[in-house]
Amino acid sequence: MNNLKTFFAECTRTIDEKLERFVPTEQTEPRKLHRAIRWSLFAGGKRFRPALVLAVGEAFGARKENLLCTAAAIEMIHTYSLVHDDLPAMDDDDLRRGRVTCHRKFDEATAILAGDVLQTLAFQVVSEDKNLSAEIRIRLISELARAAGTPTGMVAGQQLDLQAEGKKISIEDLEKIHHSKTGAIICGAARAGAIISEASEAELETVSKFASKLGLLFQITDDLLDVTQTTAVLGKTAGKDSASAKATYPGFYGVEESGKLARRVCDEACAALQEIDKNTDLLCKLADFVLNRKS
Ligand code: IPE
Ligand code: IPE
Ligand code: MG
Ligand code: MG
Ligand code: MG
Repeated sequence: MNNLKTFFAECTRTIDEKLERFVPTEQTEPRKLHRAIRWSLFAGGKRFRPALVLAVGEAFGARKENLLCTAAAIEMIHTYSLVHDDLPAMDDDDLRRGRVTCHRKFDEATAILAGDVLQTLAFQVVSEDKNLSAEIRIRLISELARAAGTPTGMVAGQQLDLQAEGKKISIEDLEKIHHSKTGAIICGAARAGAIISEASEAELETVSKFASKLGLLFQITDDLLDVTQTTAVLGKTAGKDSASAKATYPGFYGVEESGKLARRVCDEACAALQEIDKNTDLLCKLADFVLNRKS
């Protein structure tokens, strides 16, 4: 698939179809809970993480049908992380994916519970995926739990991010925050695609090397966009990081240097792919997409 736009459009269509099937309708009781989940999930995210599952799977020759449930599950975990990230106790944001945030539209308790459901549903979906062997399902569940949890996963990273607010931290600590809060799920998505494809341990290792760079790149560009982009284009409040005294790459290096660093990390990600004896053009294009994205 050469055209990235077509690839993303097709991913979004198939992933949303799966999500639609797994998430209870708005008419299901308790209605408020299911309306809140759908409010956040179907608000038009980029679907980057499920696209990565599909792209890695495609590179390693997996059947698309085998990838879809896991890809949808990862989008659920990601959306849960956004709903909780926006809560007053965390980043306290009013806007997400171009809409008022879940806790503002509904209430805080409902937003917390909507996040909880998205997380548990993700693991339910993977554990019940009839396309995959029991062994692969267990490997995926372990992979996603590690990526989403602690000590090096997303939740641990979110804790470190909050603790770093208003503090001067070292670049090593900043990189650690970015690797865990954002890199871990992105790395988990890429590894999940490789696990479903029954890639070798060596291949899995290389995929991890690539995706770890990609995850860091994703959060560096997220930090940059917060400074350089408008609220309207982002669909979330621009300039929020400096207002909250967050530890960010532009905060540490400035915008220009962070841009150069992002390009370097992107090059390193693509270089890691050269160790893989498969067609990895699409994966390199995904890295370029992250580097050049506007939202
Ligand atoms: C935003 O992720 C949160 C981060 C981890 C940086 P995305 O930029 O992928 O957000 P959506 O899914 O497109 O809304
Ligand atoms: C969020 O990082 C990482 C998550 C685990 C959700 P940010 O707090 O920078 O994400 P945005 O900018 O609110 O999307
Ligand atoms: Mg945050
Ligand atoms: Mg935030
Ligand atoms: Mg951000």
